[in-house]
Amino acid sequence: MILKDIWMDVKAVQERDPAARSALEVLLLYQGVHALIWHRFAHWFYKHHMFFIARLISQIARFFTLIEIHPGAQLGHGILIDHGCGVVIGETTVVGDNCTIYQGVTLGGVGLNKGKRHPTLGNNVTVGCGAKILGAFEVGDNCQIAANAVLLKPLDNDTTAVGIPAQPVKVAGVPIENRKKAVTMEHYERMEKRVRELEAELERLKAEMADSSGED
Ligand SMILES: CC(C)(COP(=O)(O)OP(=O)(O)OC[C@H]1O[C@@H](n2cnc3c(N)ncnc32)[C@H](O)[C@@H]1OP(=O)(O)O)[C@@H](O)C(=O)NCCC(=O)NCCS
Repeated sequence: MILKDIWMDVKAVQERDPAARSALEVLLLYQGVHALIWHRFAHWFYKHHMFFIARLISQIARFFTLIEIHPGAQLGHGILIDHGCGVVIGETTVVGDNCTIYQGVTLGGVGLNKGKRHPTLGNNVTVGCGAKILGAFEVGDNCQIAANAVLLKPLDNDTTAVGIPAQPVKVAGVPIENRKKAVTMEHYERMEKRVRELEAELERLKAEMADSSGED
């Protein structure tokens, strides 16, 4: 079973990473695949209540791959952890089949409660580089979480979410009409310029009023 999972992880890289060449190259040189292989063994020990050895394996894996997957996390088939460096996946996380997770992603908890405290991802979810999904909620199938987003709430199937805190911008690839747009640096600079113009106008009017009251 573990061997089958490993083979599906290798195939996932070949299918979804345009840079991947052969299965042998993926197996030997992709640290995302190595992290998953270590994790499949660590999770087996975790399920059999051998928590120390499970944690030991996960720490060794972290040392070699810079990817930290808690041995309790439940990962589906065909997962691609691309580049991988800095990925953290918490103990009660569930990741569905065929998900893609880029470097710098955190699937984490908020608060110190025990029990379920990490997210549950459906199938075919993509989590962009640097994105954080924090809390015990569900992210539906086929969702896309943008690079550097911070997702704090559940998402329905087929939703694309961006920003901090992440908000849905598309459903099934179709942009959501009349959504509130985030204030970008460009908006901010335009507002700042307008405020400066209005201040100058105010000063000019004040001076005009002072002049005209002086003449009276
Ligand atoms: C989220 C993502 C999948 C959306 O792709 P898409 O469907 O082509 O969406 P669009 O480019 O049409 O963007 C839709 C809106 O979201 C915004 N958006 C997209 N990505 C964003 C991001 N990372 N942060 C903030 N806003 C983002 C766009 O500016 C656009 O906003 P607008 O409607 O106000 O103009 C993609 O932008 C993304 O972040 N992918 C992750 C890729 C990644 O991590 N690669 C790592 C390779 S090493």
